[in-house]
Amino acid sequence: MNAALRAVVLAAEHYGIETIAFRHGYQGLLENDAMPIKAKDVLHILQYSGTIIKSARCQRFKEADAAQEAAANLDSHNIDALVIIGGDGSFRGADHLANHWQGKIIGVPGTIDNDLYGTDMTIGYATAVNIAMDALDKIRDTADAMDRVFIVEVMGRDAGFIGLGSAMAAGAERMILPELQKEKPLTVAALVKHIQRVQEIRGEGSYVMVLSEHQWPGGAVALAEQLEAEHHLPCRPCLLGHIQRGGAPAPADRILASELGVHAVELLLAGEHRVMAGKRANERVAVPLPDTWQKKNPLDQNLLRIQHEIFNPVKKNRRT
Ligand code: F6P
Repeated sequence: MNAALRAVVLAAEHYGIETIAFRHGYQGLLENDAMPIKAKDVLHILQYSGTIIKSARCQRFKEADAAQEAAANLDSHNIDALVIIGGDGSFRGADHLANHWQGKIIGVPGTIDNDLYGTDMTIGYATAVNIAMDALDKIRDTADAMDRVFIVEVMGRDAGFIGLGSAMAAGAERMILPELQKEKPLTVAALVKHIQRVQEIRGEGSYVMVLSEHQWPGGAVALAEQLEAEHHLPCRPCLLGHIQRGGAPAPADRILASELGVHAVELLLAGEHRVMAGKRANERVAVPLPDTWQKKNPLDQNLLRIQHEIFNPVKKNRRT
């Protein structure tokens, strides 16, 4: 988010536009907690995750009177346009505000979940996958040494992008992802069968599984207990949690944030409103805000095929 903020402020200054930041996002908008922000304030922040202007979850912003208050606060500073960096919750808020405010609004896709339609990648996703991959690599050392099963729980809200990306990058044996669970929920019996088959084929016990959050009752801890107690498989859980949202941003995120921050300002100058500044197939795009959460980017089917049919077949093939 810092890299995106920096890009917005630098682009605005380049085009002779004054910028004001609201601390803590919508919460700051409601509290009229504004601060002028200039190029000198953002020059060297892109190497840090998070945001120097802070962020918050703001439930109250869903209400009509909250959006009206925000509109009045924006008008009190003579603001013409608002750039919102965030995920689907932030964009729903942006669209809601647009019903009560005359200024122009552009969204910049900032979420580790990668779950916004219309852009190939969201800012934060590459970093989160990198962190999860690094953790999986480290876990693999013990899995290998002790012939153990590990379940690594990753974030992603209702989407399996972090799960799929990190599992592929680290060569995990299994993924339990929301999209797959929706299609056909995995049973413990099927999982145990897969673990045993993979272990048998490879002649070793190392088996690392990536579990997307909210996809198993009781999460990784409960599943590990069940596998160990009921099926005698030595198994340990690992919850990555919020470490996936921190640390030095990956180069891909810094570059994407820089490009989309500038794109957002240029869209405003071109008269665009109520759209997300995105990038698709190497082209800059403007996506209507409601599309970003109403439509869905599917998981990469080819990666799923490779993982499930070639690397770790979930069904018996001729060889197995
Ligand atoms: O949307 C980003 C995300 O990190 C999700 O992956 C996760 O489910 C959620 O936010 C965590 O939110 P909080 O920090 O408010 O618990």
